[in-house]
Amino acid sequence: MRYDSITDAIGNTPLVRIDASVHGLRHIDLYAKLEMLNPFGSVKDRPAWHMARPLLSEAAGGDGTVVELSSGNTAKALALLAGLNGLKFKSVTNRMRVPEIKELLLLLGAEIEELPGRSECLDPTDTDDPLTRFHQALSEPGSTYLHTDQYFNPRNVEAHATGTGPEIVKDLDGRAPDWFVACVGTAGSSTGVAKVLREHDPRVRVLGLVADKSDFIPGIRTIDEVHQVGLFDPATYDSIASVTSQEAIDGMVTLIRRCGLLTGPTGGAAYQGAVRQLAAADAELAGTGHRQTAVFIVCDRAESYLSYVRDRRPELLGRTRGHSAASLTDAEIRAEARTVAVEEARRWLAGGEPRPLVIDLRGPHAYAALHIEGSANIVDEVFDELVRTGLPFSKRTPVLLACPVGEKSLRYAALLTRMGHPDVRSLAGGIVAWRDAGAPLVRE
Ligand SMILES: Cc1ncc(COP(=O)(O)O)c(C=O)c1O
Repeated sequence: MRYDSITDAIGNTPLVRIDASVHGLRHIDLYAKLEMLNPFGSVKDRPAWHMARPLLSEAAGGDGTVVELSSGNTAKALALLAGLNGLKFKSVTNRMRVPEIKELLLLLGAEIEELPGRSECLDPTDTDDPLTRFHQALSEPGSTYLHTDQYFNPRNVEAHATGTGPEIVKDLDGRAPDWFVACVGTAGSSTGVAKVLREHDPRVRVLGLVADKSDFIPGIRTIDEVHQVGLFDPATYDSIASVTSQEAIDGMVTLIRRCGLLTGPTGGAAYQGAVRQLAAADAELAGTGHRQTAVFIVCDRAESYLSYVRDRRPELLGRTRGHSAASLTDAEIRAEARTVAVEEARRWLAGGEPRPLVIDLRGPHAYAALHIEGSANIVDEVFDELVRTGLPFSKRTPVLLACPVGEKSLRYAALLTRMGHPDVRSLAGGIVAWRDAGAPLVRE
């Protein structure tokens, strides 16, 4: 294989059968489409190249900056493509939650701008969100950035409709699979592939997978975010299901240890979600003499997610499990966490004796922009590390925990209560509710 440019190596990824002894389905052949084997390492190489190509030829010879709202694989691919063309790349995001990816982007020469956004994904309906405002500014006339606009650019979908989808059909001897399973981030890959598969066979069933409510799987949306934005069209999917981070890691471990597939969390989530969904179909096929075929996407590789795995499953990396918020189930959180509504919290802060310690778990930019007077800013990842070995403050000090919308703080309130703290409360609705109630906030 001889190429003039590394971009010629994008696409034509293998479709690998998962052995039935691993997944246990007796009447369904399950295949993994290995998008992680693209040269920059992920499913986003195709859309990054397809979206950037027209901009790069426009910018040839100039000194422009490619910009994208991405903190992950799209940013990685675009940083490499920009460098290849003598251009700069800037990644704008609300927060880099996976430290290895942030460091990798810096190594690739990317500039990273972290804005105090609220949602993990761009939500254009939230016009107060700095990330949304930045996105709007990029589309205004006179913007000098080369903006690939992955959340709205039809070329994101097209990259998969002309590449990933047709490759699957070709490798299945010209037939569409009966089932197609993909995790949903921008929705580009699932929409593009589903379109092509349905053109071949309208009966194909498409399952979209997202992260469970208030859980985090890097690269994809949560069940709450999925209906919000961009290229997402509910008609693409026959069903949407959610997967927990624990299931994603279980899937990763199975694919890595039993199939030789060095997948990241979304590949694991897609595998686990596929097997769970297909179990019923498999049972119905028993005795009919029919077989079916299913394909899921392995989006990227494991190496960038070691800290993600360590936080949630330290025993997999030879560590002992300390106190971890990520390991609590929703039922445990509901049973153990105490919440306090904004008005009651204000009275508590004004009259509590001793005065409660307020800990703001948001990122430093969000905190600098607006926070509750007297609060301390400990970003949730750092807080996670702090509480792992024990309570970082006295049991005699009451604690109010605040985060963007009251979900993360709820988790930590449950954890600290479980660790023996008698009075930890989570601010219901978070800083957003505090602000919406007109309660005072100060700027750094
Ligand atoms: C690791 C990972 N998995 C899955 C996806 C979802 O892909 P899409 O944006 O095409 O929905 C992404 C998108 O960034 C990703 O980074």
